[in-house]
Amino acid sequence: MGKIIDRVNQCLDCVRRKTDFIPRVALILGSGLGDLAEQIDTVCSIDYSEIEGFPQSTVVGHKGRFVLGYIENTPVVIMQGRVHYYEGYSMEDVVLPVRLMHAMGAEILFLTNAAGGLGNGFQCGDLMLITDHIGCLVPNPLLGENEDALGTRFPDMSSVYDKSLQGIIQSASKEVGIQMKEGVYLQLTGPSYETPAEIRMCKVLGASAVGMSTAVEAIAANHMKMKICGISFISNLAAGISETPLCHEEVKAAADAVAPKFQALVKLAIAKM
Ligand code: HPA
Repeated sequence: MGKIIDRVNQCLDCVRRKTDFIPRVALILGSGLGDLAEQIDTVCSIDYSEIEGFPQSTVVGHKGRFVLGYIENTPVVIMQGRVHYYEGYSMEDVVLPVRLMHAMGAEILFLTNAAGGLGNGFQCGDLMLITDHIGCLVPNPLLGENEDALGTRFPDMSSVYDKSLQGIIQSASKEVGIQMKEGVYLQLTGPSYETPAEIRMCKVLGASAVGMSTAVEAIAANHMKMKICGISFISNLAAGISETPLCHEEVKAAADAVAPKFQALVKLAIAKM
């Protein structure tokens, strides 16, 4: 496998053959939230299959394409369908899209995901502003030779989620009438959901929500000094807290139900960025 920067540049060449659009915000849409990409002022969309060397998402309900365009006056690139570690990709593949969107010009990374709530007042359907994450239980995407062109060998992680972006999201949530929760997101590899004992462990570690994406994307973006923000949509209560077994269809159905409000919030927040 070649150098990371060569892979990123190869993908960028494919994008640049289609468009010279320069996004400011990169938005990754989580499970069931993909419709937002259909509501923007689209300039161009690019299927992942059109990008040489780009990993393809295999999850049902995840489309695989970039949509580039405007939300109000903010130029955005939206990832409709992300790449997950549990699909069998290397962490380098998992974070390649984030690196590519940065190479396109994005300075801000806006992460969204569906996550299991760990109790403590969190309910199904809640939105949680991510204030920090626990990512050290999955392989770090920066393992291996450092790509100095992207960032430093030992990046500081003391303030990954940007305070001013959090403020913008909080004020947008008030405007659209959403009572936003706040908390720490913990990433596990999946694809199996957690056992009740594992969920008790996550709670002891200080997490509010658990999922299978996002923290590694934030690590790669932080490495490149992007400004980062994120929202978890609490699609279910985690194992042992919920009385019913978990299933992906339930996660998707819950996401569809909250989608209109969530989309309104994300659009308003991005318009202010
Ligand atoms: N656990 C892990 N990932 C998830 C969950 C969950 O309960 N819900 C949505 N993504």
